[in-house]
Amino acid sequence: MCGIVGYVGGQQATPLLLEGLARLEHRGYDSAGLALLGGTGIKVAKRAGRVRDLGDGLPKRFAGKVGIGHTRWATHGPANDVNAHPHTDARGRVAVVHNGIIDNAAALRHRLTEQGVELASDTDTEVLAHLVAGSDADTLEGKVREALAEIEGTYGLAVLHADFPDRLVVARNGSPLIVGVGEREMFVASDLAAIVRHTTTVAHLEDGEIVTLTASGFTTARDTTVVDIDPEAYDAGEHESFMHKEMLEQPAAAERVLRGRLDDRFGTAHLGGLNMDARETRAIRRVKILGCGSAYYVGQMGAALVEELARIPADAEAASEFRYRNPIIEPDTLYVAVSQSGETIDTLLAVQEVRRKGGRVIGLVNVVGSAIARECDGGIYLHAGPEVAVASTKALTNMFLGFALLALQLGRVRDLSIADGRRLIAGLNRLPEQIQQVLDQEDALAEVAGRLADADSLFFVGRVRGYPVAREGAQKFKEISYRHAEAYQTSELKHGPLALISSEVPTVALVPADELADRNVGALHEIAARRGPLVVVTHEDVDLGELDALPHFWQRIVVPRNERELDPILLTIPLQLLAYHAALRLGHDIDKPRNLAKSVTVE
Ligand code: F6R
Repeated sequence: MCGIVGYVGGQQATPLLLEGLARLEHRGYDSAGLALLGGTGIKVAKRAGRVRDLGDGLPKRFAGKVGIGHTRWATHGPANDVNAHPHTDARGRVAVVHNGIIDNAAALRHRLTEQGVELASDTDTEVLAHLVAGSDADTLEGKVREALAEIEGTYGLAVLHADFPDRLVVARNGSPLIVGVGEREMFVASDLAAIVRHTTTVAHLEDGEIVTLTASGFTTARDTTVVDIDPEAYDAGEHESFMHKEMLEQPAAAERVLRGRLDDRFGTAHLGGLNMDARETRAIRRVKILGCGSAYYVGQMGAALVEELARIPADAEAASEFRYRNPIIEPDTLYVAVSQSGETIDTLLAVQEVRRKGGRVIGLVNVVGSAIARECDGGIYLHAGPEVAVASTKALTNMFLGFALLALQLGRVRDLSIADGRRLIAGLNRLPEQIQQVLDQEDALAEVAGRLADADSLFFVGRVRGYPVAREGAQKFKEISYRHAEAYQTSELKHGPLALISSEVPTVALVPADELADRNVGALHEIAARRGPLVVVTHEDVDLGELDALPHFWQRIVVPRNERELDPILLTIPLQLLAYHAALRLGHDIDKPRNLAKSVTVE
């Protein structure tokens, strides 16, 4: 969602800010803007549309060495030029960019209007500019502090003031901000992607911090860290999209999440970051997984792993719903928040709800130092590397592997035998190569994806372990191809949706070689009898009867066999490629699907 980038130093800020904003485009936005501090005060340029349009339309003399930029995802007021950030006070002496939501904006707008202030936009953010301008404090930091004392809500923000031309002030509460330290220059951004090409020395601000940045430094006691990220990770390179690149990175990403965490001697996993000793681990009576969207579906796969390997009752719930039903928080339940970005507000609020009621939460998070990671009592970092595409692929694979590691560790302090532990470890070690074998089938998958793309509506079906895979497959398909795709338990088709099956409505069916394979094949015959086109993702040794001979049997996709508990992830990979190639065939902007943002930071 919204993005912030800021600069103070010896270079012209405009190209740096525009480049930073372009690097934030993947997060989703509908307008963009810049404010610069030059010799004549503050200059602002902003408009609805793309960052490129903003850059092309800048006035000739748009110079300055201190500046802020923003990409906006409309919340208060429509996406238009006026509502785009930065926002200024009436005299144009203060400019503000802001991520988050000011909950008491309506009351503040009312008060300001009564005081005679004319508000130019419909946004919550604009009140901040007026409050900063109205403060009597001597320093810019003091003015921002006074303004923020009036605010209820969440923010990551950056402020310029014409009376303090050598600095910008940034502040955070619930919306991430990272300060980047360069050579006699400082950056600030809501996402590392915006500044990583210029510096990898960063400090993650904490909630409640207000910090002044000047070319020579910044006012925080926080230690800086050097992030170990190759800036190239933020380039698509020879790939036509980030999603394609990230799907192909999955074998390497999978190796990273497993590295150093498997212990063959004891047939277990080592997850030091959980911050729980064996006694505490044994005391867990239930596992509750919380995530949103695809992370929720992988959470369902994770719950199945925990139940199978550790024999602990486990389930997953959409984090966006969790706190609204006044959940019962039990002391012997382990809550697990799962998130790629670590910023998803629904998941963060669910974590806070659990902690507020005294529950223990661990995080399965990809972005190091993110809000969810910091809010949890411990966790497992996913090490998938930066994920830029909106459609999550490699992070989800690593979430699944994170759950496998967790289930293994929970199982081995309970009744999972050492032999079974070693069997799982061997299976996990085989996975990166097997994922590669599935990726190698891309050409064949692209062909059948082209046929699926022609359908207006399709089903994804699976049972037990395969059902969350079907949900994730349908999710991926609809979010980037914009085709209606519905996931169902194969066993439930006959209780209703079979009525929709026809030669126009294909079904992608998951039929692993497990105890349900025969029943699954039986259900497919019912689809075939109604001339429903079939694409079956299965193992080599599954006998499909005469199904493959039928004219509307479109394709059998074979994935390698592993331990059956680990089947879901190998079944998921071909569904990513199907969604991707369907979207490509339809000519969609794969990395920026319509109406979607990479990190959903508002409720
Ligand atoms: C789907 C997708 C979303 C995210 C969801 C949670 O491809 O990317 O459904 O999975 O918004 O995001 P994170 O994992 O960042 O919490």
